[in-house]
Amino acid sequence: MRSPLIAGNWKMYKTVGEAVELVEALLAGLGSTTDREVLVCPPYTALDRIGALVAGQPIALGAQDVFYEAEGAYTGAIAPRMLRDVGCTYVIVGHSERRQIFGDDDAQVNRKLHAALANELRPIMCVGESKPQRDAGQAEAIVIGQVHAGLANVTASQMQSVVIAYEPIWAIGTGDTATSADAQAMHAAIRRTLTELYDAETASGVRIQYGGSVKPENIDELMAQPDIDGALVGGASLKADSFLRIVQFR
Ligand code: 13P
Repeated sequence: MRSPLIAGNWKMYKTVGEAVELVEALLAGLGSTTDREVLVCPPYTALDRIGALVAGQPIALGAQDVFYEAEGAYTGAIAPRMLRDVGCTYVIVGHSERRQIFGDDDAQVNRKLHAALANELRPIMCVGESKPQRDAGQAEAIVIGQVHAGLANVTASQMQSVVIAYEPIWAIGTGDTATSADAQAMHAAIRRTLTELYDAETASGVRIQYGGSVKPENIDELMAQPDIDGALVGGASLKADSFLRIVQFR
């Protein structure tokens, strides 16, 4: 069975001190969570400190992006091995903010995903359509296209380490979440695509997270959907009480 994965994407928020404060509050409130996995993705500057804080604790550490080269003259970039070094086990690739603001395209997302896998980092590959694309009836075609391109040359056995996050762009940071029925429909379409690309067993093992205005008020209904295996949470992951409530979905 798929173990739910609740992840906080902190984006460009939190100094090191603020990050430590939040993680200490999360550790204090978390209790034992054996039936679900909890992940935080702080900014790069806080990874080392947070990595030390969560070592041996029920919180995993992830980064928000990675470059695909192993090392070299790439000013401002961070290599997969550097993320492993500070305790990361996950990395987000292809977030819509990276695609829209920093120009990451499907080919780069695919290279980042391969670089992550080669360094024993579990990639969380984000896909999602814009509002005009949804209004034009193209949402599924766009998302499935991103899934195909992002997973190019990924093997069935590698897929066991890959997480997909469906994040409709119009739902990110807007308070305007997809209905649980719309989200479920897209998750089911993604899983059908994985069955076509690989096989039913592989597809049924891949976790597909939903992201976009996830909050304490909507997490229970989202997680009740059969193909929603977790959440990638932005704004509501920045405060301990709201993130803890999301982690404790029923
Ligand atoms: P919000 O939860 O703030 O809408 O952000 C979602 C997101 O982009 C997570 O990666």
